[in-house]
This record gives sequence, C-alpha cells and structure tokens, in this order.
Amino acid sequence: MALLEVHDLHAGYGAIKALRGISFSVEQGQVVSLIGANGAGKSTTLNVLSGLLKPTRGRILFDGANITGWRADRVTARGLAQVPEGRQIIATMTVYENLLLGAYRRRDNVDADLEDIFRRFPRLNERRHQKAGSLSGGEQQMLAVGRALMARPRLLMLDEPSMGLAPLLVNEVFKLIGGIKAQGIPILLVEQNARKALQIADYAYVLERGVIVQEGPAAQLLQDTNIITAYLG
Ligand SMILES: Nc1ncnc2c1ncn2[C@@H]1O[C@H](COP(=O)(O)OP(=O)(O)OP(=O)(O)O)[C@@H](O)[C@H]1O
Ligand SMILES: [Mg+2]
Repeated sequence: MALLEVHDLHAGYGAIKALRGISFSVEQGQVVSLIGANGAGKSTTLNVLSGLLKPTRGRILFDGANITGWRADRVTARGLAQVPEGRQIIATMTVYENLLLGAYRRRDNVDADLEDIFRRFPRLNERRHQKAGSLSGGEQQMLAVGRALMARPRLLMLDEPSMGLAPLLVNEVFKLIGGIKAQGIPILLVEQNARKALQIADYAYVLERGVIVQEGPAAQLLQDTNIITAYLG
C-alpha cells in the first residue's frame, strides 16, 4: 500500500470546481511532483490533503488511515506537513522561535533536531536570533522548510518552493530538497518550474483545469514532446 493514496478527489470554492476527480499516489521514499499552469488546481490539491479545504467527493488514505475530511491539526499530527505557497513564516518572531513552532507537538529530541536544522542551514544558524521578517526571500523559504521538518513529517508537501527566487537561490532550494530526499523523507512537490521539479522527482502528474491529463516517471516526462512544448519551453 502506498503512503498516500488519493481517489477521485473533487473540491472547489462555491461554484468554482477546482478539482474534478483526481487520483494519484505517493510511495514511501518517493518525490512526486504535481506540475501544471496557474490555476490548474495544484495548491487546492495540497490544501485538501492538509485539511485546510474540505473535499466534496473522493477519498484520501494516508499512512494506513482514511483521513478524508479530517481537520488540519489532526492531519498534521498524523505526519503530513505542508509548506504553503508564500511561505507564511511569522515575521515578528525570530528564526529560532519559528523553528520551535514547527515542533510544538513534540517533546522528544527537539534540541537535537534544531541543531540538525542549523547544521543543514548555516545561514539560518547565523541568523537564529534575527526576526524572520528580516530574512531574504530564499532564506525565508529555507526557514519555512526547516520549520516543517521540525515536525518530523512522514510526508512533506511543498507548494512552489522556488517561487519568486533568483536562479542561484532556486538552485539552493532544490539542493535542499535533494538533501531531504536523500534522508528518505517522501515529498509531494508542487512547482511551476517544471524542469527542476522533474529533474528531482521520481514520478509526476500533470494537472490541467482540475484533472490529471498525464502521468509517468519524471525522467520519461522530461523527454516527452507534449510536456516539453507546454511546460519546459
Ligand atoms: N480561495 C479561493 N476562492 C475562489 N476560487 C479559488 C480560491 N483559491 C483558488 N481558487 C480557484 O481555484 C482554481 C485552482 O486554483 P489553485 O490555487 O489550486 O491553482 P494552482 O495550480 O495552485 O495555481 P498557481 O500556479 O497560480 O499557484 C483557480 O481557478 C482559482 O482561481
Ligand atoms: Mg498554487
């Protein structure tokens, strides 16, 4: 059984049907990417998975439990962590305090994990007592990922981690994702930067207006003429 199985998921906002029956799965240890144009339904998918938006139909099985319709805090407690689009770190709190927030449900080994995050992100270490709002865009993105890791997730969902970053920082963020993958933490990655996403992913799904129009091993999609024309330019 896969770590995450999504069956015939529908969701929307009033009259707007953002997801019209999508099915996909994430296996243990895999990086799975959802790619698609603006408005395709990528963030909606993550928000439904994390319990921020209730589906109107369909089923979500995670780590052996049917979590369909669960509240966000219960989903988080089960080990599904989301780094939302636009980061949403707390600007008036320090880097250190933001990281601690990620571990608010835990009592075990928090200090060791904090030091591990600081080892992995030397820039956050140098700025640990600085207000998060004063970090650069890329540093804030790293903080948001670090905070999610502090929850020791069983699945990490990243929504557009490279959004708005300069090319050098985009590379750094993807290096970081590669490091998390190497640790064996499964990742569901939503990205507009389809090339980078497919380079790091094991498997990918292409979303168009709320339906999955194509799927396959990421390496295969990277060679696919339709994908190249539509998403890799
Ligand atoms: N809060 C909302 N209220 C109403 N409609 C919404 C809301 N959020 C999203 N939508 C609509 O749902 C559809 C899917 O949006 P979603 O944010 O999931 O797209 P996306 O694939 O994440 O796009 P992007 O790449 O621009 O982030 C769009 O048509 C969008 O306008
Ligand atoms: Mg989005």
